[in-house]
Amino acid sequence: YPASFMIAREATYWRWSHFRHHTDTIIVGRDPEIIFARPPSFRQVALTFSNIVGGPTLMLGAVRHATIGLSDVALQIVPERDHRRVVWEARAYVGIWLVVIALSLATWSPWPVLFVGGPTIYGAWLMVFFGITQHAGLREDVLDHRHSTRTVYMNPIFRFLYLNMNYHVEHHMFPAVPYRALPQLHAEIADQLPDAMPSTASAYREIFRAIGAQRNDPTWELPDRYVPEVRARRAQIVQAFEWVDGGEWIDLGAANLRPGELRSIDIGNHELLLACDDDGAVHLVDRTCTHGDADLSTGTIVGCEIECPKHNGRFDLRTGDGTRRPIQQALQTYPVRVHRGRVEARTEVGA
Ligand code: FES
Repeated sequence: YPASFMIAREATYWRWSHFRHHTDTIIVGRDPEIIFARPPSFRQVALTFSNIVGGPTLMLGAVRHATIGLSDVALQIVPERDHRRVVWEARAYVGIWLVVIALSLATWSPWPVLFVGGPTIYGAWLMVFFGITQHAGLREDVLDHRHSTRTVYMNPIFRFLYLNMNYHVEHHMFPAVPYRALPQLHAEIADQLPDAMPSTASAYREIFRAIGAQRNDPTWELPDRYVPEVRARRAQIVQAFEWVDGGEWIDLGAANLRPGELRSIDIGNHELLLACDDDGAVHLVDRTCTHGDADLSTGTIVGCEIECPKHNGRFDLRTGDGTRRPIQQALQTYPVRVHRGRVEARTEVGA
């Protein structure tokens, strides 16, 4: 609580916001802590450094929670059981700030405000300086934290002040590992991670290079950031799965799906999904979201699209194409027909 208060972060709200940040790191529309939205601008970077905008924005957020109630973002990320707690914490923060302002006015002295509340605006620069190195300029919309997060070798003084958070890929992948053990964790798994930046200066050079390029092309990614391969279980399964063109039609059950209904179908070890769109047309697609292995059978039909329950990405059921972020890869679709009241699909071969 004292640490959160000192930087005007509402403790419970921040806890859930940061929980989401670790789950959906730089997934646009899901991560509430993206520091530079694309396309970035150098003005944005300068403002972030000074915290002149960031500090008051956090304070106004607390004022909003204390008076009007939870913001739309807070309603999305904070579980209902903590809603009242967020409101009362915000009221406590605002109450303390008002007392401090009153004290400054009563004594006609800047000191109370300079020590409580004020440091959020003028004293947070070092936190920002370290914080920017964590994700700025790295890939959006991927679940593998090694693509979206940066580890930087820092000098012992920086590491002490920053509580070893310079080992940020490690921290993101294993947030329960305490700060003091992060150097050992780094030594243990370094060969599975992208190379750490050799210094804070080199990290900033990379960040400014990325920001410079992404200002003009928001899709630009750092070309020389190598992330070691890991075993791709799902890719192996999909490779072994082929459909015979012109093969037998096989029966998948009665064609009694209602618009919006989803039905899981397993053929061999392949997990498929029958989906009836809002116009009543039936589609057969892979059941696993191409973005993050989520099960689409608990998704939602919206018109001719299916929305993934995990990050709300969408696919066109007719073509499999991704129609909403963070989808980057199309969903496999399969030939299907309704014949004499039954749903039928082409037979499959493969391992
Ligand atoms: Fe991310 Fe489906 S798992 S959109």
